[in-house]
Amino acid sequence: EKITLSVIKADIGGWPGHSRVHPQLVETAEEVLSKAVEDGTIIDFYVATCGDDLQLIMTHRKGVDSSEIHGLTWKAFEEATKVAKELGLYGAGQDLLKDAFSGNIRGMGPGIAEMEITIRKSEPVVTFHMDKTEPGAFNLPIFRMFADPFNTAGLVIDPNMHMGFRFEVWDIKEHKRVILNTPEEVYDLLALIGAKSRYVIKRVFPKEGHKIAKDEPVAVVSTEKLYEIAGEYIGKDDPVAIVRAQSGLPALGEVLEPFAFPHLVSGWMRGSHNGPVMPVAMHQANPTRFDGPPRVVALGWQISPEGKLVGPVDLFDDPAFDGARQKAVEIAEYMRRHGPFEPHRLPMEDMEYTTLPGVLKRLEERFKKIE
Ligand code: 13P
Ligand code: 13P
Ligand code: MG
Ligand code: MG
Ligand code: MG
Ligand code: MG
Repeated sequence: EKITLSVIKADIGGWPGHSRVHPQLVETAEEVLSKAVEDGTIIDFYVATCGDDLQLIMTHRKGVDSSEIHGLTWKAFEEATKVAKELGLYGAGQDLLKDAFSGNIRGMGPGIAEMEITIRKSEPVVTFHMDKTEPGAFNLPIFRMFADPFNTAGLVIDPNMHMGFRFEVWDIKEHKRVILNTPEEVYDLLALIGAKSRYVIKRVFPKEGHKIAKDEPVAVVSTEKLYEIAGEYIGKDDPVAIVRAQSGLPALGEVLEPFAFPHLVSGWMRGSHNGPVMPVAMHQANPTRFDGPPRVVALGWQISPEGKLVGPVDLFDDPAFDGARQKAVEIAEYMRRHGPFEPHRLPMEDMEYTTLPGVLKRLEERFKKIE
């Protein structure tokens, strides 16, 4: 019997500014989801936070893209938005881009990662939650988990994963997708996903012959781009991901290992700067320095045979990640010293804000041809 794991998130108001989620929003979402457990809509849930993003983690039997589940999350976000408005939180309802729910939450603002899976004898799962960055921030770590033998020893030494994996990559500008096989097509894959603002890993699948069926995802990332939905660039979509672990998949420690390197991602202040992504415990995921630096939280779960969420375990709450946090602080300091210069500030086409057209217009007369 299959269970669906859905992680759906939205920024519906920051406290203060864009720094964190007010506890009353968490309580409101918990009330809505508790009722949904009672009436049998979902099996289990947990409400997490990362920065100013409210994260609903749910198990159920309705499959992915279920209008019932999406409607439930929309309701939870709407109820919490009422509270955010009462409290005058910053950007209340920011990510709820449509007024009325019409069957599917995709394209309505929230970020969504869902997978329908056959629960294994033991099903260890990690949910990742990022703030102040975009879905492409997952490209490097997901690649390392499932395709880099210097990260994942199992690719070399575990006969159950030696054949490699399949990566589904989305071109989020052209709305196209392609599936690439590793290790055979690793250079083609990297040629795409190195351009992380355009080519985003959406899912990873096993190959034929793996213990897990070929069409069951082993990892999934949220990829909604808010600016495409709204018709204008209104924000980077702080992303979430789900990754299954162990037993023919990367071990838990191989899933977490990429985050020991605080790689550079786009987002941070005004969604317009490059900076390091800092792995932190949930209580430390309150970005404040220059509204950052970007954060990633990892929550560990065992999914019980009935679909209960046994957890969370706050996985970056480990002194072994102190070095990565310290490195992120050093990189943040180094990047900040560039002020308004690239590559700290993003190239023009990737910025959420820009005054450039206005500046150019004002200077139009004063620009002279170079002879
Ligand atoms: P155990 O032998 O403790 O189960 O660990 C196996 C493993 O996968 C470690 O990465
Ligand atoms: P969020 O995307 O987390 O709301 O942050 C927006 C921003 O402008 C931070 O400076
Ligand atoms: Mg915000
Ligand atoms: Mg955010
Ligand atoms: Mg977030
Ligand atoms: Mg954002």
